[in-house]
Amino acid sequence: MVLSMAIMTDAAASQSKQNVAKLAPHGNRIPFVVLQEATNYFDNQMVIGVGGFGKVYRAVMQDGSKVAVKRGNPKSQQGLAEFWTEVEVLSGVRHRHLVALRGYCDEQNEMILVYENMEKGTLRSHLYNSDKPPLSWNKRLQICIGAAKGLHYLHTGFKKSIIHRDVKSTNILLDENLSAKVSDFGLSKVGGGVDDTHVSTVVKGSFGYLDPEYFRRQQLTDKSDVYSFGVVLLEVICARPALNPSLPKEMVSLAEWGMEWQKRGQLYQIIDPRIAGNIKPEALKRYGDTVEKCLADHGVDRPTMGDVIWNLEYALQLQESGEDNSDMSMNNTFSQLVSTDGRLTGLNCCVSPSCSTQLHMLIEGSICSHSELPQPS
Ligand SMILES: Nc1ncnc2c1ncn2[C@@H]1O[C@H](COP(=O)(O)OP(=O)(O)OP(=O)(O)O)[C@@H](O)[C@H]1O
Ligand SMILES: [Mg+2]
Repeated sequence: MVLSMAIMTDAAASQSKQNVAKLAPHGNRIPFVVLQEATNYFDNQMVIGVGGFGKVYRAVMQDGSKVAVKRGNPKSQQGLAEFWTEVEVLSGVRHRHLVALRGYCDEQNEMILVYENMEKGTLRSHLYNSDKPPLSWNKRLQICIGAAKGLHYLHTGFKKSIIHRDVKSTNILLDENLSAKVSDFGLSKVGGGVDDTHVSTVVKGSFGYLDPEYFRRQQLTDKSDVYSFGVVLLEVICARPALNPSLPKEMVSLAEWGMEWQKRGQLYQIIDPRIAGNIKPEALKRYGDTVEKCLADHGVDRPTMGDVIWNLEYALQLQESGEDNSDMSMNNTFSQLVSTDGRLTGLNCCVSPSCSTQLHMLIEGSICSHSELPQPS
């Protein structure tokens, strides 16, 4: 459910519409009859999901390509302004980690958005409350890296950064290869340039993911997306919703609850049990530290999405590095290096730079600086 403390005026929507007209070569206007045919007259059996904007239908276009057709409900809280924002922002954007907009339809007061179809649905549906097989820890890391790259591109790939404003696990979609793409820019805002780092705005976003600083000060920066992404990272490793009102009070908010465990150095206590045994402690440490930085109270203390990508790639590298020990727990890894009488053994393994890094961390209990690390691929 999207939280919207103010609704944009029709004037704003009309301005957006004019802006889209200027983008004409990119924006692809699709006739209503074509979409009727593709969705079997908006047959309920073709519905693949329902969000605040309206129903989403799976459809096949005349050229045989599969698409997702999102048809705005005129009564929806997310109205005309969000529709035109989505068209305006997405029409000009192409990136392998952002869901592509194939076109739109505004005939007969319709608000219809046509996206590339994301075969495997939302990230959330692979984490909890579904019968889908659990994603491995490595795959979860790869998905987070992909989504982070999409957001990083929005923040840095244009003259003015684009702030997503509704980063959450239902807005990260997976294609047939489980590669992640960020979707739903309907709430997004164009941020400032170099000297102008925030946008004053009414508060919009989704409960459970909302940056508390943005809520207090109503000043939006790209660090608000970083906060929301930190909540997604917790969701991914704990496999529970950002908000669960049915839990005891101290557990309702995932951000607060997760941070308590992380600050105690015990994030491992609340990991999804289906992957807990497969996470290497050094990868977990890097991941937990990244979550903690993303969820810092003040935006200035949070990393950029570029830093987040770097840290997640490093966590993945730590996870994948070393001998064939991808499923080892810390105890297993350490016992391979230390014999029963406590002397170091297995030195062959320690010759490789990545293993010596791991050993260094096990012994020192610390994290190396960037310069010591192998570069992410
Ligand atoms: N491009 C797509 N490909 C495949 N499925 C999609 C696509 N876009 C949306 N969906 C499906 O439709 C559902 C509704 O999406 P929608 O973006 O309207 O709402 P939401 O993000 O779940 O929630 P909210 O509207 O509250 O932000 C999604 O949960 C997903 O299952
Ligand atoms: Mg969505």
